[in-house]
Amino acid sequence: MTARPWRATVLTLFPEMFPGPLETSLVGKALSQRRWSLELIDIRAHAKGRHRSVDDQPFGGGPGMVMRPDVVDGALQELAGGAAGAVDPAGPILYLSPRGRRLDQAAVRALAAGPGVALLCGRYEGIDQRVLDAWAVEEVSLGDFVLAGGEIAAMALLEACVRLLPGVVGEATSLAEESFEAGLLEYPHYTRPRVWQDRGGEKRAVPDILVSGHHDRIADWRHQQAVAMTQKQRPDLWRQYIAAQRRQGVEA
Ligand code: ADE
Repeated sequence: MTARPWRATVLTLFPEMFPGPLETSLVGKALSQRRWSLELIDIRAHAKGRHRSVDDQPFGGGPGMVMRPDVVDGALQELAGGAAGAVDPAGPILYLSPRGRRLDQAAVRALAAGPGVALLCGRYEGIDQRVLDAWAVEEVSLGDFVLAGGEIAAMALLEACVRLLPGVVGEATSLAEESFEAGLLEYPHYTRPRVWQDRGGEKRAVPDILVSGHHDRIADWRHQQAVAMTQKQRPDLWRQYIAAQRRQGVEA
């Protein structure tokens, strides 16, 4: 590989969680092939004072603890090249947080097309707002639910990006046809056996069209299935799809 690898840097209190699942399967293979690199910055290494504390009680009261701005700033300076042995940042600095803008496939595509990403992982109640403001950190959420910290969200984001890097997923068509690429959910898949008996004894056959050999009709059927699935499961996505088709002057 001659191309510069896509570069991920994770700032975390728990560097031992990485690479974790990112060492497995296609994404892990791409890591060992250096199609992407993973650097870790241990936020705790930037704690100072006798107690080396990384968090403290929130001003104004309330439950839980807040990560200190000076400690997180030290980790961000390491990222930015302000400390000895530093790495330079590649791409945006994102803070994984339920408060952030919802991650979607378009954002994943944009990140994967860039030089890389730095991911700041919070724990406890979160990170002092001042250090987020000072570094103009963008907040990104995986959805409307709360994880115990940003690390697992960071792994999910990295897996989503890395699988889009050139050469990571075998066939480019399998990426082109998957959910969200065309603005629809993906059609259902079937494989052998052609007739499969479920636990209740019901025999479930693969739809005849898929074994008909008519590739055009199969493509039409899959599109209809994708439409039906999107209308049923994601009416929000369906409305966006229709609006986009109208803008392009296509009758759906
Ligand atoms: N950290 C905690 N909850 C999160 C979420 N829903 N998305 C991203 N990061 C998080």
